[in-house]
Amino acid sequence: MDAAEKPPENIVLIGFMGCGKSTVGREIGARLGYRLVDMDREIEHRAGRGIPAIFEHDGAEVFRDMESRLLESFVADGLQRHIVSTGGGVVGRAANRALLRRLGYVVWIDAPFETILERTSRNRNRPLLRTGDPEARIRELMSEREPLYDEVAHLRIDGDGLSSAEIATGIIECARYFFADRS
Ligand code: S3P
Repeated sequence: MDAAEKPPENIVLIGFMGCGKSTVGREIGARLGYRLVDMDREIEHRAGRGIPAIFEHDGAEVFRDMESRLLESFVADGLQRHIVSTGGGVVGRAANRALLRRLGYVVWIDAPFETILERTSRNRNRPLLRTGDPEARIRELMSEREPLYDEVAHLRIDGDGLSSAEIATGIIECARYFFADRS
């Protein structure tokens, strides 16, 4: 990749709900001394209410607009040395996908369906899975989104069978290589 095309030194974590973005993000942030921004938490903070309430009262599109505006502000503010943990649906908009690539080194943490199902069933904070058949919904969303994660990611990490610490180590090493190689 041409040096001129390199994004600023941020690591952007993408992937499906429950793939471990927040946990791995905390781990990488602590090790590198980079600040972690969790987009879902930041949106909740700015909106003054939780994500389920935003979906319920304002609707999904308003939430998506908030996500897009937040990403735009990260790029416009010239964010550096941050870990950005995104919401699983951030790749849905083409404009967001372009912003993610401009924001930093984009890493897709991939996890198998069974892991996602098990982790997401532990809490009810995800409005998209509040349906009669969350399993079918997960399958549908995963197949819709996988090509989008793949399109936008500089790196795909298969997290199956790995601890958060091991995934973090892999990402840190690959990011080091990515940012050091200025050829
Ligand atoms: C969503 C994922 C959630 C959150 C919202 C919508 C999605 O984030 O942004 O509930 O569309 O997949 P996590 O991926 O952190 O659960």
